[in-house]
Amino acid sequence: MPLVAVTYVKGRPGATATALGLAAVAPEWARPVVVECDPAGGDLMRRHRLAAVPSVVDLAAAARGAASPGDVFAAASQPVAVREARVPVVVAPAGGAQTRAALPELTGSGRAVLGATDRMVVADCGRLGLGSPVWPLLRLADVVLVLARANTDEVAHLREHLGELVDAGAGRLVVLLGAGGVYSAADVADVLSTHVGQELARDPEAVTVLGPLPDDRRAAAVLGGELVAGRRWRRLPLMAAYARLWTDLAPYLPVAAAPHADVSAEATS
Ligand SMILES: Nc1ncnc2c1ncn2[C@@H]1O[C@H](COP(=O)(O)OP(=O)(O)OP(=O)(O)O)[C@@H](O)[C@H]1O
Ligand SMILES: [Mg+2]
Repeated sequence: MPLVAVTYVKGRPGATATALGLAAVAPEWARPVVVECDPAGGDLMRRHRLAAVPSVVDLAAAARGAASPGDVFAAASQPVAVREARVPVVVAPAGGAQTRAALPELTGSGRAVLGATDRMVVADCGRLGLGSPVWPLLRLADVVLVLARANTDEVAHLREHLGELVDAGAGRLVVLLGAGGVYSAADVADVLSTHVGQELARDPEAVTVLGPLPDDRRAAAVLGGELVAGRRWRRLPLMAAYARLWTDLAPYLPVAAAPHADVSAEATS
């Protein structure tokens, strides 16, 4: 099953909200689990009043002697309820030290865990720096979603990291524009592909730009644990945008995991 990594390089563009929101509206076959891998520490425990144990520390310990990946997530996760949707979440302690220690366990021998056969793992990788311990995870991911607001600052910082990002995830790299930017996806795509092609001498198609996500305080508050989801929560603009995003991401996901791909293959054969 796929590993979707969510990260960002500048600001607070909504990476944690996106990881949880994507999992909440994921297609049923995906059986998603959110794993907090932010080296600065997690937020979901506090936001959703979850317990400190189990956490990513337990997932890492299980990864060392992983028996069955399904059991590993059942034992290491706690449910976050978005009304009828129950999203299993592997929380990370605040502070980050334990997450930074756990990450090598998850990305070394732990590929069997993060690429679990029966679950889609959505990893919140937090803010990316040059020495970040999440780089090995990005290399393992089927798709690397880099959140950025379409403004001068965030696009400039993103451009500075583009060489490393393309090296880590060429062909699997998706820049997802967060809410509140000023440029269009086409403008940002133009700037980034010119940089990749001309200054990095790499394939300008290595980066795809999607979004922007809508500015939707209500949905963000639901995902932040400040508001209980109403009956029509899936119709909130941000939730609907996350649902559409799964369609855009389908080409990046392993064929066996994407029923849409099977259907279209049959229809054209
Ligand atoms: N699409 C959105 N519309 C409105 N508010 C949003 C949206 N996405 C996120 N937010 C809000 O922005 C703030 C930051 O979100 P989030 O915690 O997901 O950011 P982040 O990128 O993970 O940054 P950090 O890890 O530093 O907190 C939160 O208050 C969240 O509710
Ligand atoms: Mg975050």
